[in-house]
Amino acid sequence: MLTDTTKAESDIQTRPQAIKIRGLLIDPPLLLAPMAGLTHSALRRIMIDFGGVGLLSTEMLSAKRLPTENPRISPYLIRAERENPLSYQILTSTDKEIGRAIDKLHAFKADAIDLNMGCPSPAVNRFGAGAMLMERPDEARSIVAEARRRTALPLTAKIRLGSEDDSAKLKAFCSMLEGEGVDMLTVHARFKHEPFARNPRWSYIADIKEGIKIPVIANGGIFSAEDAERCLSVSGADGLMLGRGATIKPWLFAEIARGVFGSDIKERVVSLPDIYAAFIEALVTDYRPIYHLGRLKEFTHYFARNYKFGHTLATRVQSSSSVEEARERAMTFFESI
Ligand SMILES: Cc1cc2nc3c(=O)[nH]c(=O)nc-3n(C[C@H](O)[C@H](O)[C@H](O)COP(=O)(O)O)c2cc1C
Repeated sequence: MLTDTTKAESDIQTRPQAIKIRGLLIDPPLLLAPMAGLTHSALRRIMIDFGGVGLLSTEMLSAKRLPTENPRISPYLIRAERENPLSYQILTSTDKEIGRAIDKLHAFKADAIDLNMGCPSPAVNRFGAGAMLMERPDEARSIVAEARRRTALPLTAKIRLGSEDDSAKLKAFCSMLEGEGVDMLTVHARFKHEPFARNPRWSYIADIKEGIKIPVIANGGIFSAEDAERCLSVSGADGLMLGRGATIKPWLFAEIARGVFGSDIKERVVSLPDIYAAFIEALVTDYRPIYHLGRLKEFTHYFARNYKFGHTLATRVQSSSSVEEARERAMTFFESI
């Protein structure tokens, strides 16, 4: 008979193990999602201080603009030495831009390169990029082939489930990516048109996994260790990617790493005001002033959800006209709790 402890141990043993692609070890197999305006150095550092992140990410970076960005001052590219390993996500609609962008990423010492094939934003889709690439498989194929030709780094792709419920089309697209040399695939388990309010369709990932051999990462709607457990058992994925959940709770990676993957990570006391203050400190120290307030507002939109009356915090910060004012209002809010 299994005791509770041996059962818990056997659950952990059946969990996915670390992933290795082209020499890059992703351990535990927990990845940070690329998120525009959110996944930059300040937030990444707060997450890695709690531990449990197997692979960090930038937000999507325009292949066209990347070659002219200055990594010392660009809020998209600022990176501390301890932010390792870090994947850079490229957004493009054509194989013509990818070579120069990849050369730049080599210079930035990228640990992996991800291709954005899932962004549903009309502004991005209008020029044929993001999720539109799933509707333009020939272009997608040439982008992957050219990227593969230009780099020996781990090359990954992030997709949604497509524009319509068509399993054969989706699986053919994923096989094409694998055939052209993609080393790992992340699936945000929603169709292109589906809003975040809709439950993610994790079971579709199991279907995708049947057709390909590369590791598949499940993404969408993981906000707790229980969600992580459920997602793994429904999807059979090789790893998980966390976005909004880890923005609300930067310690979520550590919690899932310990509880689901059995990682030996020290538990740290979570102080919400301290996390918030550390985030502002990182912004103000490393970023030019024009970037402070916008990024603080983006973060607060999610972080405020830790509080029952978090909308009060979010509203006060949204209506602030400087980062100092926002900081003061936030501290007054924390003291009132
Ligand atoms: C504010 C925001 C910005 C995002 N930006 C990107 C992006 O730059 N590239 C990308 O592939 N996905 C982007 N996404 C999608 C996320 O990577 C992820 O697929 C989605 O949030 C679902 O995961 P979650 O439920 O864990 O948040 C963004 C999502 C949000 C909320």
